[in-house]
Amino acid sequence: MAARRAPAKSRTHPAGKGGGSKSAPSPVTLPPFTRLLKFAASRGAPASARTDALVLYAFAGAREAAGLPSGKLKEHVDGLIRSEAFRARRGETLLLHTGGNFAPRRIIVAGLGLREEYDLDALRQAGAAAALRAAGCSARGIAYAQPPDGVRKGPGLRESGRAVAEGFLHGTYRMRKYFTGEKRTDGTSLRSAELLVSAQDLPAAREGVRRAVVMAGSNHLARDLVNEPAMSLTPKVMASYASALAARAGLECTIRDEKGLEELGMGAFLGVSRGSHQPPRLIHLVYRPEGKPLRKVALIGKGLTFDSGGLSLKTATGMETMKLDKAGASTVLATMVGLREVKPQVEVHGFMGMTENMPGGSAIKPGDVLRTCGGKTIEVLNTDAEGRLVLADILCHVKGMGMDEVIDLATLTGACVVALGPLSAGLFSTDKSLADRLMAAADEAGEKMWAMPLYEEYKDQLRSEIADVKNTGDRYGGAITAALFLREFIGKEIPWAHLDIAGPAFIEAMPHPYMRKGATGAGVRTLLTYLANLPSKL
Ligand code: BES
Ligand code: MN
Ligand code: ZN
Repeated sequence: MAARRAPAKSRTHPAGKGGGSKSAPSPVTLPPFTRLLKFAASRGAPASARTDALVLYAFAGAREAAGLPSGKLKEHVDGLIRSEAFRARRGETLLLHTGGNFAPRRIIVAGLGLREEYDLDALRQAGAAAALRAAGCSARGIAYAQPPDGVRKGPGLRESGRAVAEGFLHGTYRMRKYFTGEKRTDGTSLRSAELLVSAQDLPAAREGVRRAVVMAGSNHLARDLVNEPAMSLTPKVMASYASALAARAGLECTIRDEKGLEELGMGAFLGVSRGSHQPPRLIHLVYRPEGKPLRKVALIGKGLTFDSGGLSLKTATGMETMKLDKAGASTVLATMVGLREVKPQVEVHGFMGMTENMPGGSAIKPGDVLRTCGGKTIEVLNTDAEGRLVLADILCHVKGMGMDEVIDLATLTGACVVALGPLSAGLFSTDKSLADRLMAAADEAGEKMWAMPLYEEYKDQLRSEIADVKNTGDRYGGAITAALFLREFIGKEIPWAHLDIAGPAFIEAMPHPYMRKGATGAGVRTLLTYLANLPSKL
């Protein structure tokens, strides 16, 4: 076991007092490591925009560009669209050079797909595809024309402007810190974009763009944390990032090490950490609004900096992406940092359970029995079902803290990916109202989430001959039994929701409409939207 320097069970710094220096030493550079590009809404006419590339839109089969008033430029562009046999499917782009005859140097026509299916995702995809096309020809700045009216759900520039900005900001994310030479700088010309709108639409567009920028900032942070390899992002490093970011964002921060976990009686969490040389950390951040909070909400994130499976070892391919297993914790940290700008009238507690799951000599073994801090015992039959062990202890801990609601996020089961595919999170909840509000927030934020059942009948699968529960059920319905297992530790009294983000947290094979492979920051936009909407909607 690695030696600890500080014997203290926990280190706390109060908000806003610069306590970061007293807690963990500040790392040299703090995430996000990936720079967020600039995006602003401004008043202007597309035809007279002096820009490296003007982005226009087209519907499939329309054979003309939308977003441009009639005139010489429109004639020129429409003529080229027809001659190029451009289909204008979603995500498709057409690049045209204006040959110095018009104010914009280039035109990028972004396909929106069928007009009948026109929605905010069509705009996100168009925003991203146009940005990547512009980056491919070394553009520095681009200007998006006002998106066409008639978008299904969320009409108005507050929504459509936000969608274009989200496409641009999320679509241009790329982790480059481990590239060297040309690879590091290729395609990095792009700096900024503006959205050109009419004077009357400007206030709404600005509001939408501001939301996109705030959320994209947090999203980049979450993606950088998840993309970071396990060797450089250990539980200790995550704790030092959290501590320094919290000091900067005016959040309270408490970090517990093994000793602190022992004192809380977190035998399940500690059990998981025993197979690794990396010591575990429990991170607790608090955001307090000015004035009286309307609610107290806890967010809990699974933070497995690496999941080898432990002694129930995964296959070689099965663990290739297992640095992703800290996505829940990364989303919680990024959300907490974003609260400073969203300013909800809610007290928010963010918990991150950080550890590795490794098969070292001290690792827990199948058949071992662990005791959680609530006293309940767990028979561990499969050491690869480790996330629920860490979460069990944190859920028990949070249960007695007087929360109005508790939301956990975890890359918990492959079964959830089998059920819903790689793009959607599974939502499990003991409270209909909480579930409905989360679904509405996900919808508004543009993230996919689907409600899953907590069938009581399946609880029998968790019966153990030797302990209160066992940590795995049968092969079928694995996402549900995992959720039922978690519910054992939070109970049914406090409204609780569990988001299984094993699919959407990390893109591997199936292309995402507007994000590249790797971490997506799944849940950040939903949580920030959820918390921002909370006071007014209750
Ligand atoms: N972290 C994994 C779940 C996972 C799988 C996330 C694939 C992302 C992609 C989790 O700890 C795990 O190993 N779950 C097991 C549970 C089983 C042993 C009951 C699983 O899903 O196979
Ligand atoms: Mn596992
Ligand atoms: Zn895991």
